[in-house]
Amino acid sequence: MFENHHNNEVRSIRRKVFIVLLGIVLVSILHFMTRTSDQGLHVWHIFFRKLYFIPILAGAVWFLLPGAIITAIAVIGVYALHLLFDWSQFQMERMNQIGEMASFLLFSVVAGVLVTLERRAETKAERVRRYAEREKIATVVASLSETLGARDPDTLAHSQRVAGLAARFARFLKLAEEEVQDLYLAGLLHDIGKIGIRDDVLLKPEVLTAEERQQIMEHPRIAEKILKPVGFPAVSRYVAVHHENWDGTGYPEGLQGAAIPLAGRILAIADTFDALRSDRPYHQGLNPDRQVRKIMAGMAGSKLDAELLQQFWRCVEESPSMDFYEKN
Ligand SMILES: [Fe+2]
Repeated sequence: MFENHHNNEVRSIRRKVFIVLLGIVLVSILHFMTRTSDQGLHVWHIFFRKLYFIPILAGAVWFLLPGAIITAIAVIGVYALHLLFDWSQFQMERMNQIGEMASFLLFSVVAGVLVTLERRAETKAERVRRYAEREKIATVVASLSETLGARDPDTLAHSQRVAGLAARFARFLKLAEEEVQDLYLAGLLHDIGKIGIRDDVLLKPEVLTAEERQQIMEHPRIAEKILKPVGFPAVSRYVAVHHENWDGTGYPEGLQGAAIPLAGRILAIADTFDALRSDRPYHQGLNPDRQVRKIMAGMAGSKLDAELLQQFWRCVEESPSMDFYEKN
């Protein structure tokens, strides 16, 4: 598909170059065929050479400033044949021709700059539009997570922490800003699928039966179903894979290693870290974070991506206060 798109683009560029060149050739034929020796044809001679501005304008619209200038230089090159074959004996006419060439160049620069500025404004407007669109969807997404929170407040608080942590880690890894935002939303929603799980299973304090565990394990799939129509395909994908394990023992797809999207592996680390930290009571003298580290080190290479985990500790160390739950 990408290949196809690329081919179309190349074909379209070739066609445009061809049209610009054809324009120059046609105008030149018309211009040089209407001889100045005939008084009646002279007016056409002048008129046709004004048409050179059209291919220059096309060059500007299609290929911006460089295209405009290159086209103008080509036009000047062709037009300069006058100097070789048709050098007027009148000083005034010679000035006129040189002035015409200068105006081709000036026109190309002005047209090229104007078109470039216009394009830039359009791109910016497009970016603003896309941003507004994202904001709107993000609001929907936030209220989705509140929906889950109304039923299960612990999960909401946990999700907010995972979101902040995942976004923070993604920034540390220097991922693109859009991906950081997507990870934040994915963190917020990673357990949204629990909406589809019965209260007596979801909120059961005792140990779950195998069948109940099976139900809980459906939550990434349920989440994907809920999130897909909302319009952030990346977010729904990240949420779908947040319980995949590095060694392939995770669910629901049993993906392995790098086949798990990086964002999914980040979410798994953030999710595990926060769950362990909030599980451990802060009892006397023990450093809870050291305990968490020890437990997570045992998961390196099995549940979690070992290399990524190393990076994660580096990210955590950058915030010694452990106050790195970023609000986004
Ligand atoms: Fe989960």
